[in-house]
Amino acid sequence: METARDAGRLLMEKFGRGIKISKKGDINLVTEADLASEALIIDRIKSHYPKHQILAEESGNAVVAGGDAAWKWIIDPLDGTTNFAHGYPCFCVTIALEHDGEVVIGVTFDPTRNELFAAERGRGASLNNKPIRVSDTEELGDALIVTGFPYDFKDRPQFARHLMEFLIASRGVRRDGSAAIDMAYVACGRFDGFWEEGLNPWDMAAGVLLIEEAGGQVSGYDNSKFSIYKPPIVTSNGLIHSQMLKVLQ
Ligand code: IPD
Ligand code: CA
Ligand code: CA
Repeated sequence: METARDAGRLLMEKFGRGIKISKKGDINLVTEADLASEALIIDRIKSHYPKHQILAEESGNAVVAGGDAAWKWIIDPLDGTTNFAHGYPCFCVTIALEHDGEVVIGVTFDPTRNELFAAERGRGASLNNKPIRVSDTEELGDALIVTGFPYDFKDRPQFARHLMEFLIASRGVRRDGSAAIDMAYVACGRFDGFWEEGLNPWDMAAGVLLIEEAGGQVSGYDNSKFSIYKPPIVTSNGLIHSQMLKVLQ
């Protein structure tokens, strides 16, 4: 939590200051803020847990020599890079810890609102230290749903169909550009459900635990058991889950 806050502070120092931006793909960006935040987080983790494995978006699998494979930190140092690069204040730092293949800790920090979402397996989820729960909306027609557009949406024709069907079936659909914030908002009940394809483990790891610990549900589009290494993902307050799955069939 302290590390996520420190990385978030670093992002805010660079936000809106005309920093250097490069392209990883046609529309997939990386800025010097992503790199600086990631370096801070990795440094801090290594200083406390020198033998733990690290999977971080900009460094890939930083396997530690002679390391302890049972523990793996999963890091997105800046989720919402496109927003950040355009001065749109919706982005976060998100960090999770996996033990024996299971996410046991998840933290997502939004420095623009000073909101820190945290979860520990079996011990609930919180927002700024206050317990959170998913919403109690029972009907998809009364639900506010959120999604994200994958960078490779052109190769995913079914995505536009799903979007259209959720627009018709729900009260509204939002797209804010940070999957980790989208999922934290499902955990605290601001959104009732979220679906997205093509995400990476670092986008989802903390969010999945936040939602599970806040009483929600997470699965694949076919209701299969979810793994952060196997997108796509659909998550909800549990009550509208089967209605969301029907739309995604
Ligand atoms: C992206 C955001 C966005 C989602 C993209 C992600 P990034 O992460 O989470 O909401 O739609 O698929 O890649 O690149 O800003 O870390
Ligand atoms: Ca991301
Ligand atoms: Ca990122």
